[in-house]
Amino acid sequence: MSIKKISKEQPENFEFNKKNLEEAKKIILNYPENKQQSAVMALLYIAQRQNYNWIPLSAMKYIAKFLNMPYIKVYEVATFYSMYNLSPVGNYFIQVCTTTPCMIRGAYKLVEACKEKISQKEKELSKSQNCSWTEVECLGACVNAPMIQINDDYFEDLDKKKTLDIIDQILDGKKPKPGSYRGRINSEPENNRKTLLRKNNA
Ligand code: FES
Repeated sequence: MSIKKISKEQPENFEFNKKNLEEAKKIILNYPENKQQSAVMALLYIAQRQNYNWIPLSAMKYIAKFLNMPYIKVYEVATFYSMYNLSPVGNYFIQVCTTTPCMIRGAYKLVEACKEKISQKEKELSKSQNCSWTEVECLGACVNAPMIQINDDYFEDLDKKKTLDIIDQILDGKKPKPGSYRGRINSEPENNRKTLLRKNNA
């Protein structure tokens, strides 16, 4: 499991841009009066998207004011959940699942690929400054292990060579195709079904 690192370099100010301000206001309307603080996770996520994939401390303070809640409570949420990045991670952020099902299917070979192509250390920017990687816990696609997440997309059924190829593409500014890299559609079995063959059981 990776350790949360809070960036030493912090922008002084943060505020939602016009579009995100509208979105934040809409989200708050989903909650009953005096319970708007429950929107904190969604608002942190919007702040992260706006700020190139990471959340500065000034954004946490802004959200605390926005939701009328103590800053420390926003800080606690942001530092607890692994989906929030608290230091710059690059426009392409690669998350490598190394939980048991991915690990026994070769996830550490994918980590090797990231170390070779991006950076020896997690959450450190590549030379091109546009990419970084980290290890994460299960991303819920164990049936297609091993896998990585790049920004919002999943890349599944990988091995080291395929991962190197995907990273080469993003370092070249291309957009690799998400999904299974063994030609499966979603998580269908390879070489046809072997169970639930009778229609009335399927
Ligand atoms: S263990 Fe890797 S996606 Fe679940």
